[in-house]
Amino acid sequence: MSEVKLYSGEKLPLEMHKVRVVQKLNLLPVEARQKAMAEAGNNTFLLRNEDVYLDMLTDSGVNAMSDQAVASMMVADDSYAGSATYYRLEKKVCELFGTSYFLPAHQGRACESILASSFVKPGDVVPMNFHFTTAKAHITRVGGRVEELVSDAGLEPESDLPFKGNIDLDKLRECITRNGKENIPFVRLEAGTNLIGGQPFSLENMTATAKLAHDNGIMVVLDASLLQDNLHFIKVREAACKNMSIREITRAVCANADIIYFSARKLGFARGGGMAMNDRAYYEKMKDFIPLFEGFLTYGGMSVREMEAMTVGLEETMDESVISQGPQFIEFMVAELQKRGVPVVTPAGGLGCHINARKFLSHVDDHAYPAAALASALYIASGVRGMERGTLSEQREPDGTEPIASMELLRLALPRRVFTMSQVLYAVDRISWLYENRHLIGGLNFVEEPATLRFFFGRLEPIGDWQEQLVAKFRKDLGESL
Ligand SMILES: Cc1ncc(COP(=O)(O)O)c(C=O)c1O
Repeated sequence: MSEVKLYSGEKLPLEMHKVRVVQKLNLLPVEARQKAMAEAGNNTFLLRNEDVYLDMLTDSGVNAMSDQAVASMMVADDSYAGSATYYRLEKKVCELFGTSYFLPAHQGRACESILASSFVKPGDVVPMNFHFTTAKAHITRVGGRVEELVSDAGLEPESDLPFKGNIDLDKLRECITRNGKENIPFVRLEAGTNLIGGQPFSLENMTATAKLAHDNGIMVVLDASLLQDNLHFIKVREAACKNMSIREITRAVCANADIIYFSARKLGFARGGGMAMNDRAYYEKMKDFIPLFEGFLTYGGMSVREMEAMTVGLEETMDESVISQGPQFIEFMVAELQKRGVPVVTPAGGLGCHINARKFLSHVDDHAYPAAALASALYIASGVRGMERGTLSEQREPDGTEPIASMELLRLALPRRVFTMSQVLYAVDRISWLYENRHLIGGLNFVEEPATLRFFFGRLEPIGDWQEQLVAKFRKDLGESL
């Protein structure tokens, strides 16, 4: 997306692509949506996609692919060992990240599992700007724990800080002193920090963090799954990087990391993942896990067609007009919601638009899961499927206490190049209607609560009859409308 000035003075995110393949969508009547939500246990993960109008659950594996990426799938080399497709992908990853070695894996969490098994031992601490659900689950699976060191200001939902994903260096210094560097296998830095609203770190902060870690002999691991949004934000928000190309910024970011891993369901517009590094010892330490859990070293559990598309997608990530589309659409949606008074996370980040559910539903107790209740209400009101990112996404402590998430968010992902402006405006309209009727929305209770990653499979029920009241108000205000 380039800077195009409109004569009207309006600010409009203008797409630098056109749509050539489409998928038909369904929008069920509100009563059918209420029924579908009940059948899904008020968990948007358990909805059937055919019952969803706009799938804003995630950007994972659902970004639109380019004609070039789709075309490349036709020349994939289908061989178990030594595939030419693999060597093309390895070359591209190493060229972009400035690394010597690449290990393929079927998706991001597979990399997290291998990293945890290879480097984390019971009692270890992994400091990070902020946790991601699967990263934390794998670290705790092997007996480690995480410490989140994002600056306090990064956790303020509304702010004008450009880099809310930055690590607080004083907190990192204190963490190393308190835990002892011998108990810290690596510092994990997450680009485009997912759970705090897709917020980026700056190159300056990353460089300082890496120096502090390296001065203490601690390895730095970069989670580059959401790197493409972070690259865009470094380019437009960090004055010192204004004149750097995206390729140069990528190299500069990656030069700070000892191991870079990514979910290619996000980075590269395909489905898969992998890890890259310069140190042969790290490569050797993790290599044996690939054939054991993923697949042979030249496919790592991925389809060769996806690997071929990923190679093209990674190269497209170096094009500013490609990677700015997501953040600019999100900024537009955030601004439209702000105009209508809806509490949203600011500044707009990457990945999606994040609604501050704690403020939206200030009358709903944290233990009644405001963000999950809002996700349920939004689906009923609109057929839009979002994702809870709050207390429900946390894991109970071993003694059964439920930690309250620092942020209680409803995430509305905008998979890249997928939705049109009118679809975004429809979502804005229905969210605004819900905001005006927020007093009708109540909380949720667990009826089935899994012990780990409970947001995936947990089933909940509404507290009281608020969903019936919401449907009745919808009919009153919007008549026969879908
Ligand atoms: C920041 C981040 N890291 C890791 C992952 C895990 O990747 P995957 O879903 O491919 O396992 C995700 C997925 O959403 C993510 O957002």
